[in-house]
Amino acid sequence: MTRSIAKITTVEVGDAKPYTISIGPGLLDDGATLAATLRGRHALLVSDGNVAPLYADRVTRALRSAKPGMRVDGYLLPAGEASKTLAHFAEAIDALAAIGATRDACIVALGGGVVGDLAGFVAACWMRGIDCVQVPTTLLAMVDSSVGGKTAVDLPQGKNLVGAFHPPRAVIADTEVLLTLPPRELRAGLAEVVKYGAIRDAGFLDWIEANAAALMDGDDAALSEAVARSCRHKAEVVARDPYEHGERALLNFGHTFGHAIEAEQGFGGLNHGEAVAVGMVLAAKLSAQLGLAAETDAARLAALLARLELPVAVPAGLQAEALLERMRLDKKADATGLRFVLWDGIGAARVVAGVPDEAVLAALET
Ligand code: NAD
Ligand code: GLY
Repeated sequence: MTRSIAKITTVEVGDAKPYTISIGPGLLDDGATLAATLRGRHALLVSDGNVAPLYADRVTRALRSAKPGMRVDGYLLPAGEASKTLAHFAEAIDALAAIGATRDACIVALGGGVVGDLAGFVAACWMRGIDCVQVPTTLLAMVDSSVGGKTAVDLPQGKNLVGAFHPPRAVIADTEVLLTLPPRELRAGLAEVVKYGAIRDAGFLDWIEANAAALMDGDDAALSEAVARSCRHKAEVVARDPYEHGERALLNFGHTFGHAIEAEQGFGGLNHGEAVAVGMVLAAKLSAQLGLAAETDAARLAALLARLELPVAVPAGLQAEALLERMRLDKKADATGLRFVLWDGIGAARVVAGVPDEAVLAALET
């Protein structure tokens, strides 16, 4: 089945191996766009137990009709962060071995960030690296995790501790699939959209404030614009700093706190976007405490996130000391101590090293 797509926006990512992000409603049925990214005749479609029943057949049909003779096998994960493990990574590798996947085989990651991160890591490792096409189905995956090549699985000790940089061959974001996304997951994605405004584009933050209702209602025009603008930001950053030696760390605004909250809740409490929302408010408060930014900026950010029905405070029952301990394992911590992405105000983030424990504890406790 091939459908003509009315409006596709593309964003080019100028990585060492450049690729295109295609964004628009109906792209899942556009087998030609997907088939154009595949070099061989063999694909492993990796998806999860919620997404596959909704969309896997459509993708498989579109692909086979655009590329007759294409062999498409499947590997399904149980939905949720708890599946982003070495055990499921090993299962997916076994699936590739069982089907005799060759070097020109491709992984098609159909799902949210959990599927994308795990499938991307599998692609990075099989035969030292095969192609992975990301077909993100959550807003969070469209605006963040499918772009930039970070792939990983979690350990009980923390998130994303085992992984690799492995840029996708292409990203195909069908915004229509956001219609089936649970509202809580849509809001989680909006947290990452807000992040781009917070760290590097005050005008985008104004736009999000003005369009908050349309975004929350799932309006396709508003969401497509949010996805495209977010992807342009991410593409600009990763093109300059693909391996996070500098500027890319700014994309982790709110994540040091957020990852600690997720891990401390055993990955079963706030989801990633929600934890990042709380983390961004804490980073803004910490910035104010250190005298880097005005408290009114932190209040404005918290007000926007609350309007988007995202949490803005540390969940009850979590201890500040325990969160601080978790942060010591964060990938941004080094021998000199804790480093945070903080800001000088809306649209102006920077990395700050040597942040004293007392200031962090104070931000967590206010
Ligand atoms: P997720 O993959 O768990 O998806 C959220 C839920 O929505 C799941 O239950 C999923 O089955 C369901 N779902 C997905 N698409 C759907 C659709 N269209 N309709 C109905 N249900 C749907 O979560 P997520 O928020 O997409 O991703 C979070 C993960 O992404 C975390 O593991 C995080 O660490 C990772 N992440 C990675 C990067 C990166 O750069 N690699 C960046 C940000 C986040
Ligand atoms: N999500 C942060 C990054 O891709 O660098």
